[in-house]
Amino acid sequence: MVKSGKARAHTNIALIKYWGKADEDLILPMNNSLSVSLERFYTETKVTFSESYTEDTLVLNGETVNAAESKKITRFMDMLRAKTNTTLYSYIESENFVPTAAGLASSASAYAALASACNEALQLGWSDKELSRLARRGSGSASRSIFGGFVEWEKGYDDTTSYSFPIDADRWEDDLAMIFVVINNKSKKVSSRAGMSLTRDTSRFYQYWLDHVDEDIAAVKEAISRKDFKGLGEVIEANGLRMHATNLGAQPPFTYLVPESYQAMEVVHQCRELGYPCYFTMDAGPNVKILVEKHNQAHVIEQLHQHFEPHQIIASDITRSGVEIIE
Ligand code: DP6
Repeated sequence: MVKSGKARAHTNIALIKYWGKADEDLILPMNNSLSVSLERFYTETKVTFSESYTEDTLVLNGETVNAAESKKITRFMDMLRAKTNTTLYSYIESENFVPTAAGLASSASAYAALASACNEALQLGWSDKELSRLARRGSGSASRSIFGGFVEWEKGYDDTTSYSFPIDADRWEDDLAMIFVVINNKSKKVSSRAGMSLTRDTSRFYQYWLDHVDEDIAAVKEAISRKDFKGLGEVIEANGLRMHATNLGAQPPFTYLVPESYQAMEVVHQCRELGYPCYFTMDAGPNVKILVEKHNQAHVIEQLHQHFEPHQIIASDITRSGVEIIE
């Protein structure tokens, strides 16, 4: 018996960050987070279950991934088998659609696509809410990639209550875009998983982060309801910087940001002075992502071009489509 399904999921960028787990195994976060889904970056994953397979195999962008690297996937598939009473192993073919060499591949789109492809292959009939909970078990941010547009991940308190849902923005997403400034990272990488764990456990600033994140979420939702770009931007920029500040308070302290990241932030400040409102956010790496209204996108890119190579600058629309079954 062979069963297969294929799905596409877009990646998302958090405007209010998920940073720290309350439960490492279930991937329950310490705080709610809120993201936008991106049109241009996505993953397509086909999963095939068959009695003839004796293990899970992952083929990523045409290349078989070795056992050590695919350990996370195997754990995810073991969890899925336990949940669904399936004994079948899988053959997973996944392709990341991200501009070449940009290093923007994301576990968020990967696990959202995989969860949805499994749902299709095994004919589970799970709702988007259930898929969001399932994708969360692979990578926290994947719970948000089940949906398009603005998405909030409710932290919940157990496996059932922690999931994401879309926020109605009356199609405001169509007027917005995100510009990536891709910055080469020469230093040793700290994964988001390791970084958030060290910070939660040791940072002197972590409690301050937790104490203020709910007001940020409320302010962002209020700004979305009024389509208030400045209001939205000021909150998300402060929230992103505060997340990065918690890392500086960790023992030992660390940072994801490099001089070029600060240079990109400076260009954002200049753009605002020139009358082109835009706001930055950064994740577990040095890249800077800039939220802008589409009618100012070309102006901001022009300013960035004075400091960065053309290949370092990639713009994407915000997509309102969530995960979808393809083929
Ligand atoms: C900084 O979702 O990659 O991008 O749950 O351990 O897989 P795991 O972490 P992941 O962390 C994302 C952290 C972030 C902020 C965010 O996306 O909310």
